[in-house]
Parts: sequence; structure tokens; C-alpha cells
Amino acid sequence: MAQETAPEAQGASAELVAYISTLAPETDSASTIRSLLAAGADVHARWESGATALHLAAARGNQQAVTEFLRAGAQWNAIDDVSKSVGEYARENGHEELYAFLVDEGVRTEFLLMALGASATDAYEEEEEVDEAEAPELVQDAADSKPAQASAHPSNADYLFRPLTFSEGRILDADKNGVMMGWEAPLMERHAAVIAPTPGLSVLNVGFGLGLIDTELQFLKPAKHTIIEAHPDVYAQMLREGWDKKPGVRILFGRWQDVLGDLEAYDGIFFDTFGEYYDDLKAFHEHLPNILNQDGIYSFFNGLAGTNSFFHDVACGLAEADLREMGLETKYIELVVDELGNETWRGVRRPYYSLPIYRLPVCKFEEF
Ligand SMILES: C[S@@+](CC[C@H](N)C(=O)[O-])C[C@H]1O[C@@H](n2cnc3c(N)ncnc32)[C@H](O)[C@@H]1O
Repeated sequence: MAQETAPEAQGASAELVAYISTLAPETDSASTIRSLLAAGADVHARWESGATALHLAAARGNQQAVTEFLRAGAQWNAIDDVSKSVGEYARENGHEELYAFLVDEGVRTEFLLMALGASATDAYEEEEEVDEAEAPELVQDAADSKPAQASAHPSNADYLFRPLTFSEGRILDADKNGVMMGWEAPLMERHAAVIAPTPGLSVLNVGFGLGLIDTELQFLKPAKHTIIEAHPDVYAQMLREGWDKKPGVRILFGRWQDVLGDLEAYDGIFFDTFGEYYDDLKAFHEHLPNILNQDGIYSFFNGLAGTNSFFHDVACGLAEADLREMGLETKYIELVVDELGNETWRGVRRPYYSLPIYRLPVCKFEEF
């Protein structure tokens, strides 16, 4: 139940939640909701199962109510006690149009926050204790798509200084986060085919991991094949496997941020690092106009918010909008992901991808 102090406000909150339960998608609700909010109803109050007024309005499919709550400061990315988003409340009740509206709202809000230099990621990272009912950040890497719980999400610097374990076709970091896992092999094969559609091209891969995409790229016979890798254990493994002697291969050992000056312009670029946030991915995107040929193709590992379809859809929209700012148009190729059972995640701190579809980004300067 809502935690209110003033009895009038408590009454208004209770009235609000009762009113929402009467709404149909087409109900004209704006003025009633505005007056209840003006009377002190709390837009942030939590109701049954930790649902917010926005969740409840989304479940009723009432866009006017949703709009009023967002205007009143409701968080588009609130989650309930079982981590369900407002988007899921809309979709599970058959309100697809409202779902799309909520995705657009999420993209618009995040885009604005990014432009103001205060992404949601920053906001949640700054919190000491993260309330489970707060929203997840948009992470780029495989480690996590839940809020940063102090040590649960490694920073890139921490990650690079701690040892890795290579076993059973996967790499785990010191906290047992999955850095790279074999189940991604079919995705990497498709990414390689997308960025190197013909032999003889010049390609760049950022983040070697298990070398899955680089192995595929070698089959596709690029003329030049540059690989950036920052972790000393991965770099040592690359040397043991003779990657420094493979045809066309040039290894740049270091963080991508530190080797930008050694880069040329490429026909195909793939980005897949670890321990980095959406802001890092966006920072990389800002370099694309300098390192991607005019008719080149860019792609990245799309694990953005990979355990929640609503947040994932928002993240995909945000990436698309950010890339458009760089002059790149994005299309997503949808690939079916075989169900990743418990066995896949055995010994891994937490599953980082659970969506049935993988949206593989294909980005080009010209419209296509
Ligand atoms: C998810 S793995 C890449 C997997 C790879 N796509 C494959 O097919 O096996 C991420 C890799 O990025 C590396 N990495 C992390 N941060 C980096 C950075 N800032 N610059 C370059 N490489 C980085 C990690 O050490 C790791 O090897």
C-alpha cells in the first residue's frame, strides 16, 4: 500500500488507484487524473505487487492516464516487485499500441537525458543502495541488465586488472560473470557475414573474447583484419593460438579508447566489449564517421537490456537514434535464439540474455 502521511493525500491516492481500475482504453481520464494528482495523490506510490499507477494505467490500456502520470513525473522504467515493467503490463493485457507508445516515451526520455549529459545509467549508478523496484540501467556488456549492485557489475578498469577463467568454451571474470559464452557462436557467425559480405575487405573487431567472430572473419578472407583487445589474459591466449600470425591480422593490445590513433578506415566494424556501459558504446559510435568507410557496415553485440523485452526495445530505439545522429541508419535482423536452459548458465553469476529473439544491428551511412 502507498506510504502517505497526510490523510487527504492518502485518500486521493486510494481514490486514484480505484479510479484507474475502472478505466477502459478509450475512457477520457485526463481531467479526473489531473484533479486527483492536484489533490495530493502520489504518482510514485506502490500498490499491489509493487505496481505503480503507471503500471496499472498501462494494464488498462488507457493512454491518457499513462500520459498524465508521465507528465507528473512517473518513471517510464519503473518495475514492480517481480521486475515487471510498465511495457509488460501493457503488452500482457493486449495493448500493443500503448506498448509502442511506452517504448517511444522511453527512447525520448533517455535520448533527452543523454543529451543533457545525465543518462539513466548515471542516475542509477550514483545510488548507493539500489531499490529492487528501481529501473535497470542500459548495459552494453554481457554481465548484467539489472541495477548496479555495488560490486555486481564490474567497471571496465576493474575487469581488466583481474584474472579470467577460460573453460568449457567460455570465459568468466573473477566474479563469475560471463564475459563470453559459446551459445553466442551462431550470432557471431551472422555478425561476421554482415560486416564482411565479400572477400578482400578491411575489417575491425573490437573485443576478441573467444575469438568466435574473428574465426568466422578469417573464413571470409578479409585483406586486412584488425583486432583490438584490452585484457592481458585474452591477449596472451590470442598469442598462444597464433592470432598474430594469421593472414591479414593486426592486433592492437589495449583499450579501444587508447588505440583510436592507430585506426584506419574500415569496410566492416564489429564492437563487443565487456564491463562497459551504454555510454561507452555511444562514445564508440561517435568515432564511426572517422573509421567507417562511406559504404562500410557497422554492427555491435546487441545484449542491451537483454533480459527484459521492453527495456531491450527501448535500448534498441535509443541506439538507433544515437547512430542516426552520427549519420548512420540502422536495421535489425531478427534471429531466433534457441532456449538457453539452466545448463547454459551453470556456474555463471547470472544469465545475461533471455529473450527469444536477437536483434542483430546492421548500420550504414546511406539509407537502405
Ligand atoms: C564479449 S567478449 C567479445 C567476444 C567476441 N565477440 C567473440 O566473438 O568471441 C568482450 C571482449 O572485449 C574485451 N574488452 C573489454 N573492454 C575492452 C576495451 N575497453 N577495449 C578493448 N577490448 C575490451 C574483453 O577483454 C573481451 O575479450
